[in-house]
Amino acid sequence: MEATNLLPTEIETERLTLRKPRLEHAEEIFATYSADPEVTTFLTWKAHDNPRQTRDYLSACLAEWSSGTGYPYVITLKAKRDAPIGMIHARMNNHGANMGYVLARSFWNMGYMTEALICLSDLLLSKEGVFRVSSFCDVDNAASACVMEKSGMLFEGILKRYSPLANNASEPRDCRMYARTR
Ligand SMILES: CC(C)(COP(=O)(O)OP(=O)(O)OC[C@H]1O[C@@H](n2cnc3c(N)ncnc32)[C@H](O)[C@@H]1OP(=O)(O)O)[C@@H](O)C(=O)NCCC(=O)NCCS
Repeated sequence: MEATNLLPTEIETERLTLRKPRLEHAEEIFATYSADPEVTTFLTWKAHDNPRQTRDYLSACLAEWSSGTGYPYVITLKAKRDAPIGMIHARMNNHGANMGYVLARSFWNMGYMTEALICLSDLLLSKEGVFRVSSFCDVDNAASACVMEKSGMLFEGILKRYSPLANNASEPRDCRMYARTR
């Protein structure tokens, strides 16, 4: 049985639409960013070799929607609703959510991820039982730290050896933790 979803399947921000993914998005995501090793430099996964890997990832995303354990959204520009340019992912935990995100390189530094993160954090924090929206990044991922700061998250400190987030590191690396709470 499908869990009742805490979040809607579609959210609009000023310039973006956040949508529940579809398996058919795999080819476009593969062509746009999931095969780009520069994009995955500070992620836990390696750049994909073929669209099948992207499709498998989207299957796992849909399973999270079904169980209510997470809400991964594809990000599109409002004007091009069928062309994913990235993803933002709320992973639910006991009293809140941890956020992950990724954007195709040609769309970097236009404020898009800050816009998506503010909107989704606002929405999550308006829900009963959600008290904390957090996110963390590798200590060397300055762009991601900047997004969290611009989104109103507070820097909580450096978590030593927290996650292997950079360059497919074989060992956990130090990470910067940020959160918004109510
Ligand atoms: C992190 C990422 C999602 C940011 O998305 P974005 O839409 O470009 O973010 P924004 O435009 O909202 O903000 C980026 C900010 O970082 C700053 N920035 C970018 N590169 C930087 C760098 N090397 N050093 C310092 N600041 C940097 C930009 O100047 C901008 O700040 P400004 O608006 O004050 O000028 C995008 O770079 C990305 O997809 N990176 C690869 C995946 C990734 O690392 N995800 C996060 C994992 S924790």
